[in-house]
Amino acid sequence: DLSPIDRAKFVAAKRAASYVHSGMKVGLGTGSTAAWLVRCLGEMVRDEGLRIQGVPTSTRTAQLARDVGIEVISLDEAKWLDLTIDGADEYDVDLNLIKGGGGALLQEKIVATASDQMMVIADISKQVGMLGAFPLPIEVIPFGWQTTKTLVEETLISLDVLGTSSTLRMNGDTPFVTDEGNHILDLHLNRIGNARQLSLVLNQIPGVVENGLFIDICDVLVIGSADGKVEVRD
Ligand code: A5P
Repeated sequence: DLSPIDRAKFVAAKRAASYVHSGMKVGLGTGSTAAWLVRCLGEMVRDEGLRIQGVPTSTRTAQLARDVGIEVISLDEAKWLDLTIDGADEYDVDLNLIKGGGGALLQEKIVATASDQMMVIADISKQVGMLGAFPLPIEVIPFGWQTTKTLVEETLISLDVLGTSSTLRMNGDTPFVTDEGNHILDLHLNRIGNARQLSLVLNQIPGVVENGLFIDICDVLVIGSADGKVEVRD
């Protein structure tokens, strides 16, 4: 009795899980779609004797993975991963992504980059012609964050990409805090013409730890539909 959107996320996750085999070290993404994957893998561990080690990309995912019976290890214990499976907030035709809607972009990017393959699971609503309609999250150090925000905005203006504004992500009345103790600025850009350049430039700004653009990181895209159909692109 899933809603159409959850059904789409579920069938994508289920298909992605079929690429996971015993002996693999698997990066476990964050978000509602990745949560379906973690549950699917948990079932395979329990019912099919799947033996894997999972490296979670957030405390949330670590908790869920343990709850469903997946052996959790750190990235440093794993050293290298066979496959990371994660959701995305947007993907384009070149498999470039915006991630970080859930605030876990830093660990997500580190884990995905440490993997032989990154597979993204999504429903078709995440597809865009050009990245940027979804606000681009960037993780910033709390020290001097307002100065960093100003510097980011000046940089965006000079690149001619700032749509409207950047906003500090809140959690009720206080700034949202990431797993690494940092804050998130959401950049409302509308259209990102040159994502590769923007990603490089943002990461040059002191106080910016990482940004949510995943360029040339995703290898395979698994798109689920509410009617149960799944499309795999690579
Ligand atoms: C978490 O930080 C994000 O990168 C998620 O992967 C992204 O927000 C997708 O989440 P949903 O699967 O919940 O849409």
